[in-house]
Amino acid sequence: MPSNEINQESANKWLTDLWWQVKGAEDEREYYSNTAVNYEEISANLGWRAPQLCMQGITNYERRSGITIPRDGRAIDIGAGTGLSGQALRDIGFTGQIDALEPTENMFVQAQPKNIFTLWYHELLLEDKETSVPSNTYDLAYSVGVFSDRSAKSGGLRDSVRMVKPGGHVAVICVKRHWDGDLDIMAQKLQEEGKVEIKHVEVFEKYFYHTNSVSFILQKQ
Ligand SMILES: C[S@@+](CC[C@H](N)C(=O)[O-])C[C@H]1O[C@@H](n2cnc3c(N)ncnc32)[C@H](O)[C@@H]1O
Repeated sequence: MPSNEINQESANKWLTDLWWQVKGAEDEREYYSNTAVNYEEISANLGWRAPQLCMQGITNYERRSGITIPRDGRAIDIGAGTGLSGQALRDIGFTGQIDALEPTENMFVQAQPKNIFTLWYHELLLEDKETSVPSNTYDLAYSVGVFSDRSAKSGGLRDSVRMVKPGGHVAVICVKRHWDGDLDIMAQKLQEEGKVEIKHVEVFEKYFYHTNSVSFILQKQ
């Protein structure tokens, strides 16, 4: 679809097709691949505030806990897309290296000219297979609008935790029903195993339209 045809109606259709027609990881990769050129315009039409809300979750956590995620540290953006979430991390003063895990080449092609990311892992975060992202490397692994019940499922949290250094953080924002459905249980499980501490859970209204979201932050033990 040429970019000048994106409007509220076509953005709504994009979202309902994603929710109701996309069934698995490869399907979702193909969906984003086919719509990558229009992704940012679609997001704007949907009132997508997830990147800013994720960062608000992080700064609220920092203020409340007295812990600061080092702005000159190293981060990985899981499902980095076209760089909206990477830019949002830069906007809260992060000057360190940001790497990207993004399975869809066409999305990343949109991100590259922005010069936000250093390394690119062209892989899916999955439940049953580790990515090639090195272990114990990052101060922050964050993910904006990626975890769902389609592709990046709750089991992918385990691999996200593996990527961060002990004491490092995993920060996720997702549609609230995915937190209520599965992610909450997986976070509790990781906490019971002594792998993480659940440090912050915050509900934000109007993630887009009237959809609510949850921002949650885990600290690796
Ligand atoms: C809604 S977009 C969010 C992009 C970006 N984080 C943002 O805030 O604009 C979801 C992104 O997750 C990627 N994605 C989908 N399934 C994934 C998976 N299993 N692992 C990693 N990324 C995935 C998609 O290719 C897409 O770029």
